[in-house]
Amino acid sequence: MDAKHDVLVVGAGCAGMRAAIEAFDVGADVAMISKIHPTRSHSGAAEGGINAALGNASEDDPEQHAYDTVKGSDYLGDQDAIEILCQEAPDDVYQLEHWGAVFSRTEDGRIAQRPFGAAGAPRTAYAADITGHVLVQVLYEQIVKRDILTYEEYFAWKLVVDDGRCQGVICWDLLNGGLKVIGAKTVILATGGAGRLYTGTTNAYACTGDGMALALRVGVPLKDMEMMQFHPTTLAPTGVLITEGCRGEGAYLLNAEGERFLERYAPNAMELASRDVISRAEQTEIDEGRGIDGNVLLDLRHLGAEKIIERLHGTRELAQTFAGVDPIYEPIPVRPGAHYHMGGVDTDVWGLTALEGLYSAGEAACVSVHGANRLGGNALMETITYGKRAGRHAAEWALSNTTVTVPEGIVSDADSELRELLARTEGERPWKIRDELARTMHENFGVFRREDQMQRQGEIVDRLRERFRSVVVEDKGMLFNSDLTQALELGFLLELAQCMVVCGLARKESRGAHARPHDYPDRDDENFLKHTLVTWHDGPQLDWKPVTMTKWQPQERTY
Ligand code: FUM
Repeated sequence: MDAKHDVLVVGAGCAGMRAAIEAFDVGADVAMISKIHPTRSHSGAAEGGINAALGNASEDDPEQHAYDTVKGSDYLGDQDAIEILCQEAPDDVYQLEHWGAVFSRTEDGRIAQRPFGAAGAPRTAYAADITGHVLVQVLYEQIVKRDILTYEEYFAWKLVVDDGRCQGVICWDLLNGGLKVIGAKTVILATGGAGRLYTGTTNAYACTGDGMALALRVGVPLKDMEMMQFHPTTLAPTGVLITEGCRGEGAYLLNAEGERFLERYAPNAMELASRDVISRAEQTEIDEGRGIDGNVLLDLRHLGAEKIIERLHGTRELAQTFAGVDPIYEPIPVRPGAHYHMGGVDTDVWGLTALEGLYSAGEAACVSVHGANRLGGNALMETITYGKRAGRHAAEWALSNTTVTVPEGIVSDADSELRELLARTEGERPWKIRDELARTMHENFGVFRREDQMQRQGEIVDRLRERFRSVVVEDKGMLFNSDLTQALELGFLLELAQCMVVCGLARKESRGAHARPHDYPDRDDENFLKHTLVTWHDGPQLDWKPVTMTKWQPQERTY
């Protein structure tokens, strides 16, 4: 064992850093592992804001926030977890403010809140359109202030399980090469999502579902893996996020005929309907020939230069840089793109998984507050509130338990596996498999899903996994071998894709992001008001888990 801690957090985005801060404040010896420098984590790409019922822009309360979230989730969200999120959110946001988060302000100096999709009140606190970036910086300052150790550029590859509990992580040291074993009484997986399963995605290259796959490989179930959210406004052709904040500020979505087509899909909420509804509307317009080169248009021009520059300057810069379009003068071409995994590691409301000592928080986890469709702004909030809760519980447990053991066999097996991979001199390059996976997931497991396409995707992923067995890593070096880690990431992605397809085929209804208009166009509460659960035993094994209901019975969901 190279080092040992009470609490080891894997991932250093908002959830990971918030968990580490809480664990430290509870009194634990805590460290973080991250394959990238913390301030480069993908949380920094969250733009539009963070939801809490502060009531600064109009009447609002946690109960209304909870109801909107339950409805938005298409009733698949666990209502106890949602109520906790919405109750704790206001204090958690004020704490961020007190730590120095530079939120945009109302005229009278309070935190400004903008309308976001499917929210009954303007509830999204924001820092212009760089909210995630601001929160990452603020949290990192708190990490530095506490002198919390970060194993930077360490790639978490395997969990150590001994005596029926998680006791550490085996990592590849990117900078120097070689395996490092870090023991811990508790481990928190906060590695974010797996958007790199798709060609068109808002997600960074780092988003390869590492934590989900690590949990799966030690027998911990993943929940609702079929629920991949498509964000309605991703920039063509790169997939860069164009924030919902644009529509919150009043931007329109137009088709090729210049029509605000949402009148036909969500006549009340229009551009502020929920993401699943808008993505389906856009895809329908595109599929029926009313798109422009596979896109629709996001029109900000009527907002005026002053508002765009003050509140959406990041969006303007992205549109100019990546699409050559200045939104002050021209509409932005956008399309639905893979954005957020509502599914993830199954946890309770303290982030604890089915394996003692193993926790998860943020996008890697599924507690589940988002169900079948997440509301914009709820992800950042979840990272903070549930990061905090996981950090607290993991620290308290660690402080009341003492031993950490890493059996020698686990490490030598891991070492042999890596040597074997690096010794291979012939085979297929990983990027070919990765590109095919991402392209076919996009084609066959996208905004709309069909039985035959999902079946085909299952067969494609089976074949890709077979090819993956003889993949070759050309870089044989020790120093910063990203060729090696990309191959390991591909292994993670392939297993997650298989889980997604199995869950998608089993859910024979349309709910939130899982839309099957051709065979099961309606939500079926009688048979499917339940979570999919998947574990791995020589392949994905499906099970189900009831949804926790507290006070809201399912209703028809219209916007
Ligand atoms: O559109 C956005 O700004 C994204 C926010 C979110 O996914 O919560």
